Amino acid sequence: MDYNVLMQKAIEVSKRAYIPYSDFPVGACVLTVNDKMYTGCNFENASLGLTICAERNAIGSAVADGEKCIKAIAIYSPKMDVCYPCGACRQVLHEFRSEKGIDVVLKDNDKLIVYKLEELLPGGFSL
Ligand code: THU
Repeated sequence: MDYNVLMQKAIEVSKRAYIPYSDFPVGACVLTVNDKMYTGCNFENASLGLTICAERNAIGSAVADGEKCIKAIAIYSPKMDVCYPCGACRQVLHEFRSEKGIDVVLKDNDKLIVYKLEELLPGGFSL
């Protein structure tokens, strides 16, 4: 899978973010081990703590479709040079990691950078 395709989908869905409070759009696209892609954008709420991040929105769509094994995620915000996933989303990604882990694909101006989730979240919590 060309990660540029994954990133393009993250960019597209970021345009649909519901962000009346932060004006900070984020888009994400997850790729599952079955090569299916699911997108999500952040959506906020007047009760600010109820905001859902783009990553968790995308993960939820994958899970709802029966896809629980994620091998990559692209994350994008037009408001930041590199938009890293928040700590909560790192842990939620950890829950659905594939055997080979998860590639976290970020846009750094004109190029893509790829981290392993384990680099961004060493010792993720599992039961
Ligand atoms: N946000 C995400 O969607 N993903 C992250 O990993 C970090 C933060 C959203 C939440 C909120 O709507 C806005 O960015 C500002 O925090």
